[in-house]
Amino acid sequence: MIKNYITSIFLAYSIFSISATSTICYAQNNKHVKTELSSLNKEVLDNILNDNKASYKNGIVADYIPELGKMEAQKIALSVVNEDGKVISVGDVNQKFTIQSISKIIALMIAVNEKGEQNIFDKMGYYGTDKPFNYFANLEGNGKPLNPLMNAGAILTTSLIDGEGEIPFRKILETIRYITKNNTIDYSKTVYNSEKETGHRNRGMFYIMKNSGLIEATDEEKLNNYFKQCSIEVTAEDLAKIGYFFGHQCTRFDGDTKYKNSEVSQLIQSIMLTAGMYEYSGEYSRNVGLPSKSGVGGGITVSVPNKIGIGVFSPALDKQGNSVAGYNMILELVKKYNLSLFN
Ligand code: DON
Repeated sequence: MIKNYITSIFLAYSIFSISATSTICYAQNNKHVKTELSSLNKEVLDNILNDNKASYKNGIVADYIPELGKMEAQKIALSVVNEDGKVISVGDVNQKFTIQSISKIIALMIAVNEKGEQNIFDKMGYYGTDKPFNYFANLEGNGKPLNPLMNAGAILTTSLIDGEGEIPFRKILETIRYITKNNTIDYSKTVYNSEKETGHRNRGMFYIMKNSGLIEATDEEKLNNYFKQCSIEVTAEDLAKIGYFFGHQCTRFDGDTKYKNSEVSQLIQSIMLTAGMYEYSGEYSRNVGLPSKSGVGGGITVSVPNKIGIGVFSPALDKQGNSVAGYNMILELVKKYNLSLFN
């Protein structure tokens, strides 16, 4: 009897103390993250940039599009849109670079808004990949691009945006100008010409998809729109605003809700998580744990859902085509503030 009583007291105490402890831990964790994030300032970002800037030496500036190879390797910038929608930037904040593959998430949003998710994904997969961004052998196999963020799927996505000639590209440009509230953004004609002159592999994918009926086109204008969207010039700050936008149900950093749509932001962020860093996406998800998208211009945009947007720039890339110093800065920031979705 006494033994039973003591056991029940002990059990009751244990249950109370476990739940009390976990409640306290949970509250402390939350408080910790909140307090820490509000302490994020220029000095913190400067330290992160300085800790990682030398790591560009472990990468190589892309030159398969000859115009990209002209970028100075040691340029670097880090930008955050904080929880209040305020922009904090350090490093080469005014340095413009081409958005490249990061434009693919904007094109996907426009195509899905116009045609609906089902229509777009009838023509391509939701797969991740163990292959580089310009892989397309599977177009012969299952006949469809693996996902909308590898080149084949991205060329198809842009070709599905309504409008003749340059109109789909103009929509992408205007959407980027809207999200960043930066009407000075334009595309680089020299990078565009360089992409167009040397993009024979992309041209190959375009014609395979035209041959299989996925792309309806009478000339190469729909492919040119893809080359143009990749040549749009942005700064790290613009990328932080794009990250914030997708992390906040497509709400702009200043609170404007013109595009607000939680279905679309869920879709885009889930694809960013599984395929945004190409064949590095799985390992990136393990280490960083946040929806992100890279471009061979050296930029990466990161969405920290319902918290902040991060934009980085450093043009030297690893073998998968992701910015080396950019990745290292993201990793340090994410670890410092416990930002992984899987914490
Ligand atoms: O089509 C291309 O190859 C480039 N314009 C874009 C590729 C890219 O950014 C891949 N990202 N890391």
